[in-house]
Amino acid sequence: MDSSNLMDKITALCKRRGIIFPGSELYGGLNGTWDLGPIGTLIANNIKNEWLGNMLSRGNIVPLDSSILHAARVWEASGHVTSFTDPLVECKICHERFRADHEGQIKEHEKTHDKHSWTEVKSFNLMFKTFVGPIDDEKNKTYLRPETAQGIFINFKNVIDSTRINIPFGIAQIGKGFRNEITTGNFLFRVREFELMELEFFVKPTESARWYEYWKKERLNWYLSLGIRKENVKLADLPKKDIAHYSKGTSEIWYKWPFMGFGELEGIANRGDYDLSQHSKYSGKDLSYFDEKTKEKYLPYVIEPSVGIGRAMLAFLLDAFHEEKKRIVLKLHPKLAPYKVAVFPLLANKPELVKKAEGICKGLMKSFVTVYDGRGNIGKRYFAQDEIGTPFCITVDFETLENDTVTIRIRDTMKQERVRVPDLVSLISRKII
Ligand code: GAP
Repeated sequence: MDSSNLMDKITALCKRRGIIFPGSELYGGLNGTWDLGPIGTLIANNIKNEWLGNMLSRGNIVPLDSSILHAARVWEASGHVTSFTDPLVECKICHERFRADHEGQIKEHEKTHDKHSWTEVKSFNLMFKTFVGPIDDEKNKTYLRPETAQGIFINFKNVIDSTRINIPFGIAQIGKGFRNEITTGNFLFRVREFELMELEFFVKPTESARWYEYWKKERLNWYLSLGIRKENVKLADLPKKDIAHYSKGTSEIWYKWPFMGFGELEGIANRGDYDLSQHSKYSGKDLSYFDEKTKEKYLPYVIEPSVGIGRAMLAFLLDAFHEEKKRIVLKLHPKLAPYKVAVFPLLANKPELVKKAEGICKGLMKSFVTVYDGRGNIGKRYFAQDEIGTPFCITVDFETLENDTVTIRIRDTMKQERVRVPDLVSLISRKII
């Protein structure tokens, strides 16, 4: 399948099944925004839960949920006001704007537009500006956060003072970020509003190289453990010229995107003591850490794995997408599947089957996110559940009424087994883990 075809198919599937809708579609759309539908919300929540669960289960990582708006000084201190920019060029004829480093798009424009003439390259700041309070003036100007990380750095001391946590430790945050990207595209890959999962892991400076290597491996393994195929994902160290203003070294986890080949899925940066040192300087407050055991005082270094949930979700969807002879199936890892189980009555016009199926569904809902489906025929129901990646479908038939057994159909193999209703919870639990 060619790549644009695959992206079109995924986008169409997402719309058809309530996974992702274009943002502001009713009013013609708003570029660079997408809305999660009911199924997409469940998938995104599963991704977030898996990420946060993985972080918190380590015992030395705590969560945080800072505000989206920070004082403008935060962004001056962090360097985003001066350095969070992309190089921009504008076509003087049609005034379309492009990222100067996206050569493919520029060449495409030159090919498709007879007349073109480019402006000089200039720096374009990606932060969305806004005003706090009713007066729109420079004094009240601030920005929608382009990363959640700064909310962590400005709370570093609050967390240290209010918890019993000691270095090495991490603060994990999930939340919205906003970037006024010059160009957007490739569905969820590059958008203007997106949710981030970011960990700032604080370490002794002399141990930062070891922790940097540690987090690169941990994060790669997280994707593999959730079903991303080994051949589609790899680590890449970035050359110095390509790394952000705050970074001492950055690696990326690359996914094999259909539209560009291997490219960034997640970034893992060694931010050194850049942020804590800047905030110490700008706020006038000492943010250094005192190690009670060794009696040393120092500014910790920070290792930061950071990924957009939309970008991760796109990778999981692409990896899971299979077009077979008679069906499209999302072979999502069961932990990421929006519904773990679907329950059907064999015939929706037989009240005794409907009643029994509803009862079984209600029972399973206590253990798993479960959905009931009594529409159309069994074939259509399987088709619909395969398209959203439901790993198990249970059918209640006349035999169920006699001996309390049902058929359970496995999404990936389409094999069916007859099992006892009281065994369902333990059987499904074992298969999900
Ligand atoms: N705090 C570090 C940071 O913000 P980044 O590499 O600029 O680093 C982190 O962004 C991650 O956010 C990327 O690896 C990618 O997954 C996601 N991301 C960045 N810009 C994005 C965009 N415009 N649309 C969707 N996801 C984006």
